[in-house]
Amino acid sequence: MKTALITGANRGIGREVARQLGAKGFHVFVGARNAKAGRKAAAEIAKEGGKATFLEIDVSDNKSVTAAAREFSKIADHLDVLVNNAGIMLDGDDAVLKISDDILRETFETNTLGSLRVTRAFLPLLRKSEAPRVINVSSSGGQLTGGADGWAPAYCISKTALNGVTVQLAAALPKFAVNSVCPGWVRTEMGGENASRSVEEGADTIVWLASEAPQDLTGKFLRDRKEIPW
Ligand SMILES: NC(=O)c1ccc[n+]([C@@H]2O[C@H](COP(=O)([O-])OP(=O)(O)OC[C@H]3O[C@@H](n4cnc5c(N)ncnc54)[C@H](OP(=O)(O)O)[C@@H]3O)[C@@H](O)[C@H]2O)c1
Repeated sequence: MKTALITGANRGIGREVARQLGAKGFHVFVGARNAKAGRKAAAEIAKEGGKATFLEIDVSDNKSVTAAAREFSKIADHLDVLVNNAGIMLDGDDAVLKISDDILRETFETNTLGSLRVTRAFLPLLRKSEAPRVINVSSSGGQLTGGADGWAPAYCISKTALNGVTVQLAAALPKFAVNSVCPGWVRTEMGGENASRSVEEGADTIVWLASEAPQDLTGKFLRDRKEIPW
């Protein structure tokens, strides 16, 4: 049975990716730092007929990530798909010349280092897959092409750096498919209720990369199943 771990899967885009992969026959590991919310999301996926296991993981905490990899290996012997979805945009992330170092650090710790940290910790399990895939949920806010408009600078810089993590991992792991995805503007707690896309639409390219995309598609930035500029 194929396995997938999605971080930040208790709500928003992550939960929808987990739901869809569960419906496709994956054993999904619902990664969440909040145990109650993670268990609830896993139970909802199981109710729909998917195989879902809650996995406690705070991507900003090395100990939590290491413990999660240990816990995972008690349940499954390989990991086919890792979706680094957990992400934050902090209050006060308003203007590049004014944001505090603390906001920058905290945002990086989760959005950028978190994804690298989780990938490293699960690498031995990913290496046991016949076709390992790592999907980093990024944002067009991190695109350098076209310049910036000043919105959420710490968040955007963290996603630019996450895209750097993607290309570095793709180079270091030639048998893997490692890609960044922009889900578009999605109606979640982060995206807000006025966003243009549903969670189903936001999850689409991520689920496609996890399950159907060619294994040799790697080191790219994608939206709507198509490559976009960095
Ligand atoms: N929504 C959009 O329009 C949009 C656009 C572009 C990119 N994205 C990206 O898509 C991803 C998902 O966003 P979303 O819109 O679904 O946001 P969301 O509804 O705010 O959900 C974020 C998820 O990440 C989790 N998370 C945050 N920090 C964590 C940590 N340290 N460890 C583990 N989990 C953590 C949250 O858990 P808690 O419930 O415990 O807080 C929550 O499950 C993010 O990477 C985001 O940057 C979103």
